[in-house]
Amino acid sequence: MVDTNAELNREFHDAHAQGYNNQHASGIELLTEEIRSRVDWIGLPPSDKIRMLDYACGTGLISVALAPYVTETVGIDISPNMVEEYNKRAETDKIPMRAHAGNLVSDEEEPVVFSSPDFFAFDLVTIGLGFHHFSDPTLAAQRMAARLRCGGKLLIIDNVSDDNGFSHESAEKLFRDAGVATDFEFSVIDRELRIGRGPAAWKQKVFIARGTKTEL
Ligand SMILES: C[S@@+](CC[C@H](N)C(=O)[O-])C[C@H]1O[C@@H](n2cnc3c(N)ncnc32)[C@H](O)[C@@H]1O
Repeated sequence: MVDTNAELNREFHDAHAQGYNNQHASGIELLTEEIRSRVDWIGLPPSDKIRMLDYACGTGLISVALAPYVTETVGIDISPNMVEEYNKRAETDKIPMRAHAGNLVSDEEEPVVFSSPDFFAFDLVTIGLGFHHFSDPTLAAQRMAARLRCGGKLLIIDNVSDDNGFSHESAEKLFRDAGVATDFEFSVIDRELRIGRGPAAWKQKVFIARGTKTEL
């Protein structure tokens, strides 16, 4: 069955990819600071090689924010134009990150192209402002958890909202249902995120939640 919601997301983000960083400059700066201030709280493993998956990566906000702390990052996004912007940034700034176009969270089988070991056993999986776009967030969290190694971390950044985001309780349930709720924490960012520019801009409360995949 065609996931109309996913298709609309792809079209919308394809159309806005080129101007995305400019349009959301203040939000990108704020989130980069907030993510970096929580590196210890995220709890990356003390390892020589840390592999991260940035799902719904867009132009690379989280990948770039965490680049100094991880070894390599794989991005995946449904919008090929966002992926193009991400890969341009990787090349310009010489960051070890590479994105691919695809959808891992539809109720169809996951694309074969993402079935190789390169797309599994990540130490950290992040999803920034993507979850409120997904048709089935519970399935999406389970698909993300499946890409983590045991003991790996899931990090979700999204809206604090009852109708277009999550509460502490609903986010915790997502983590629990996906088996990644060990040491779950939900941290609301004090400063509001400014989305967009000009008179159409609005302010949004955002959280960062993290949990660990249960060791078997
Ligand atoms: C608001 S943007 C956030 C991008 C980036 N994570 C950031 O924080 O700047 C949401 C992103 O989710 C992507 N997206 C929406 N639905 C998706 C899906 N089903 N699978 C993968 N990516 C998706 C969009 O293409 C877009 O790049």
